[in-house]
Amino acid sequence: MTSEEKTLTEVRKEAQKKLMGVCGVYKICDGDAMRICQGQSYGRPLGFGGIGTGASFNNNVLALKKLRLKMKVMGDHFKADTKYDFFGTKLSMPIMGASIAGVNSFGGENVISEKEFCRSVVLGCKAARTLGWRGDTYTYSLDNSYGIDAIAEAGGLGVKIVKPREQEVIIEFFKKAEKAGSVAVGVDIDGCGSYAMSKHNKPVFKKNIDDLKELVSSTKLPVIVKGIMCVEDAIAAKDAGAAAIVVSNHGGRVLDHTPGTAEVLPEIAAELRGKIRIIVDGGVRTGYDVLKMLALGAEAALIGRDVVRAAVGAGIEGVRIQMEYMQKTLAKAMKMTNCQNLKEIKRDILY
Ligand SMILES: Cc1cc2nc3c(=O)[nH]c(=O)nc-3n(C[C@H](O)[C@H](O)[C@H](O)COP(=O)(O)O)c2cc1C
Repeated sequence: MTSEEKTLTEVRKEAQKKLMGVCGVYKICDGDAMRICQGQSYGRPLGFGGIGTGASFNNNVLALKKLRLKMKVMGDHFKADTKYDFFGTKLSMPIMGASIAGVNSFGGENVISEKEFCRSVVLGCKAARTLGWRGDTYTYSLDNSYGIDAIAEAGGLGVKIVKPREQEVIIEFFKKAEKAGSVAVGVDIDGCGSYAMSKHNKPVFKKNIDDLKELVSSTKLPVIVKGIMCVEDAIAAKDAGAAAIVVSNHGGRVLDHTPGTAEVLPEIAAELRGKIRIIVDGGVRTGYDVLKMLALGAEAALIGRDVVRAAVGAGIEGVRIQMEYMQKTLAKAMKMTNCQNLKEIKRDILY
């Protein structure tokens, strides 16, 4: 770090000013009922919070908090190797920026424009030698696809996730992402619970195994199914030919009262580890949380709300600083639990 470089604390302070009334940029981001974001629920737009009581958002954080790490420090000195291969793209860490869209609805262009948000995530993640995933919402269309434009600008270093729209529309988005050189594409199948899409006349649908098969065969790119919270859905995604699943409850935004993702991950991993790539998100705020998720059976984790705050606070630089912080804390956590590389991370480092 050079002396002129911002610290993550400074980035977050800047975000706090810009997100006033929307997100408190609290030290602990857990969807607690007393947080500003949660106070916005019931009939009002979701904003930054979780749906309804915020229980699903809160459970993500609580599930991780319950897990404790086994400190093991005797042995030869090493610097932990966090390098990760994602469909042939070499990354500095098994941590990527989650697919998030609609950030411009948090106060318009004064906070950040959707275009700048997408550029910040994708180019900021690229600068930290990882990937930014891009989401989808009702303001997006085939002519106005800020996320895919940012991925093209990054030379293809990104992942495009499309809402479960009509099949033909998803396939067109996949084609556009393929042209931009995207590393992978996918659908957030839990987006069928999106209120914003239906309200703005952009219908979303539940998808069955045949729908997923059709999407998989429509593109040469690996297809990711995001929004898996049970073994049955995970098996269906694998049977449809998906290359990866994301164990996710959408940051607690689509169904109230789900468990935390760290609670359902072990049984999904027990069934499918080694058969399909398992990625996870929800409440992951530090490398320590990432280590816990990897010990439970995921191979990588996505960072949601913290990446938004970083982008709002300091654009591309903010996201790079956020992701480098994630890498550093993961390396530290691995050193202190005696895991030299990702393969050495096992369930027995957790209490
Ligand atoms: C404001 C906001 C918008 C989101 N938009 C999308 C989206 O467009 N597509 C998607 O797959 N997930 C979306 N998500 C869910 C995230 O990809 C991710 O699953 C979640 O934020 C992870 O939880 P965390 O925020 O606690 O890290 C959104 C989440 C938030 C907070």
